[in-house]
Amino acid sequence: MNRRVYTKIEDFEQQNATLECPLPYTADTSALAAPLSLGKKTAPNRLVCQAMEGCDGRGDGAPDELTRRRYRRFAAGGAGVIWFEATACCEEGRANPRQLWLTEKNLDVFRETVEEIREIGLRENGYAPLILMQDTHSGRYSKPQGTPAPVIAYNNPLFEKDNPIDASRIITDEGIDRVKEDLIATARLAEKAGFDGVDIKCCHRYLNSELLSAYERKGRYGGSFENRTRLLRESVEGAIQSCGSDFLVSSRLNVYDGFPYPYGFGVRNDGSLAFDPTEPIRLLRELSALGVELLNITMGNPYVNPHVNRPFAQGGYTAEEHPLEGVARMLHGTATLKAAVPEIRLICSGLSYLGVAAPGVAAGFVEKDGFDLAGFGRTIFAHPNFAKEILGAGELKKERLCLCCSKCTELMRNGSTPGCVLRDELYTDLYKSVLKN
Ligand SMILES: Cc1cc2nc3c(=O)[nH]c(=O)nc-3n(C[C@H](O)[C@H](O)[C@H](O)COP(=O)(O)O)c2cc1C
Repeated sequence: MNRRVYTKIEDFEQQNATLECPLPYTADTSALAAPLSLGKKTAPNRLVCQAMEGCDGRGDGAPDELTRRRYRRFAAGGAGVIWFEATACCEEGRANPRQLWLTEKNLDVFRETVEEIREIGLRENGYAPLILMQDTHSGRYSKPQGTPAPVIAYNNPLFEKDNPIDASRIITDEGIDRVKEDLIATARLAEKAGFDGVDIKCCHRYLNSELLSAYERKGRYGGSFENRTRLLRESVEGAIQSCGSDFLVSSRLNVYDGFPYPYGFGVRNDGSLAFDPTEPIRLLRELSALGVELLNITMGNPYVNPHVNRPFAQGGYTAEEHPLEGVARMLHGTATLKAAVPEIRLICSGLSYLGVAAPGVAAGFVEKDGFDLAGFGRTIFAHPNFAKEILGAGELKKERLCLCCSKCTELMRNGSTPGCVLRDELYTDLYKSVLKN
């Protein structure tokens, strides 16, 4: 079956009709232009630049020239929210030696970057986007010096069958307590740097997200729901208590990992891969009770089941399911949570594969309250002006679409700096030179 990104609405409609539960679609995308209040702040529209890391920071963790170029482009593009990429809370938690890492020493460079985003937004679009920073510890995927230095919540045979990890790499409860303090301290720094909010990252199987499925771990961070969600809840609570009341404390949250019990969160405990929203709904309610008003919902693991995390046209393998089924899992899954916890604002993930149909599907969900904000990931590398185009013409032109070819990820996995190889010349040239070597 054809897996290409949709360049014609008719092709999308035809395939969508074959789904057990088709996606809503509306040609009128005006719902995406409506502002949305979030706590004491307002997002000027419903379009979000998702967190997309460029692995191009300085050795000390500050944004470098390529980083600044990326955010200038996003700022000019007109999205109402910019979810500033994965930024480490401590050196051991960096996913690569060029991952951003916010410290007292480089705070000024972050502050300049944030101010520049606002200035460009105001100048180009007449409004500044809300900017939230993703505060993370990369856990099992930590590589601060460029070689694996995993910090794991538990040994996972599904992930470790080819590369066993010594049990000595399991982080102790005291070690997790320290990560909590680092996440909270980094949230405070993010506020000082001028961000509108922080995301205590809990997705894609980095440390916080891995703990959600630590069913068999002993101690304060394993076993019960309360223990498995402790790092997230206490970091969020700590950030809320130590930051100002207008600072948004949020989380990018995996609500389904796509691995069987006892290795996945949000799955049934019968060994199947079926989504079970029971625990995610409970977690959303508890976060809401702590004062969280906004969550960014995602699924899967970019290393082990990337077809769940970012449905693709071309990648390292051909998944059994069609990419549209992956998109449907993410969007309908988000809508299931929104129906159960309507008081919390939700951002969706995984729209890029829909191509020209993405704005209409996003508007369809927003209209029926399936989610509040539409998050675009790979699209923003290919077409940083996507929001301007949707808000202006009401649609996305096929010439600028992300084709979900996975070349941005290929660059990243080769230790380089990801960007759109097809639509951004800088990365076309880089890709050629990476391939040569
Ligand atoms: C190169 C690359 C970098 C990414 N960086 C981040 C990141 O820093 N933080 C994060 O939560 N997700 C990250 N993601 C995941 C995306 O935000 C998004 O969830 C995923 O691509 C699916 O959305 P899409 O279909 O719109 O691309 C990254 C994905 C790619 C391909």
